[in-house]
Amino acid sequence: MSVHSEIKRVTTETLRKMKFDKEKITMLTAYDFTTAKMVDAGGVDAVLVGDSAANVMAGHETTLPITLDQMIYHTQCVVRGVERALVVADLPFGTYQSNPKKALKSSVRMMKEGGAHAVKLEGGKEISRSLEKIINAGIPVMGHLGLTPQSIYQFGTYKVRAKEDEEAEKLISDAKLLEELGCFALVLEKIPANLAKKVSESVAIPTIGIGAGQDCDGQVLVYHDMVGMNKGFSPKFLRRYLDLHTEITGAVSQYVRDVKDANFPNTNESY
Ligand code: KIV
Repeated sequence: MSVHSEIKRVTTETLRKMKFDKEKITMLTAYDFTTAKMVDAGGVDAVLVGDSAANVMAGHETTLPITLDQMIYHTQCVVRGVERALVVADLPFGTYQSNPKKALKSSVRMMKEGGAHAVKLEGGKEISRSLEKIINAGIPVMGHLGLTPQSIYQFGTYKVRAKEDEEAEKLISDAKLLEELGCFALVLEKIPANLAKKVSESVAIPTIGIGAGQDCDGQVLVYHDMVGMNKGFSPKFLRRYLDLHTEITGAVSQYVRDVKDANFPNTNESY
């Protein structure tokens, strides 16, 4: 028997049941095999191959430049490292927004070539026809409302969204629509905690928050942020569990010193 058959995989149904049982859902990003293995071993329920790869892996200012081929490559790497968690992959900007046929084609590629278990799309009513097409093809979809970084040039700022009544009402109605269309879960990014609570109570599908308070059904963070690799990114919602930037640069400096001083390799490290 292979080790894979002994591990009970997390499915979209598992996440639905967790909300029902009031058990919090955990999600972290990963973009490569080694990180995926670690976050899976750490016990997260879902791994998100986020298009934040454009920022943290490629150094772009926004998530817009990453391509579908690049996201498929990251997803393949992550899928190979994960044994238990549900792997959700972002569809990048420009691959689904206004053309349902293109949205389905992009999703099918992400599932078939990337090996993702589900896709994530940003937006509400504006993308409903694309969502319908993808979900009707049997592909599980996670929604994403609030601060949707692919619309950053429309928003003009990364500030908290939906503080005003009109945007909050639209967000609640979008959440209900996504549930109606068949999304299995919903990311809520950077919105007031009381609004996230209201949304979480208004839909039966799980909400997974980032900067959306403690009443969401689960939480997601970008891995590189939570382990402290990004020194320059310190939003209020971020909890850093490690200071890997300091640890890693310290280790690199020590290595440089050891080599310069002819202290590495020593005789035990030589053949
Ligand atoms: O791309 C990403 O990492 C995301 C999370 C911030 C939810 O969409």
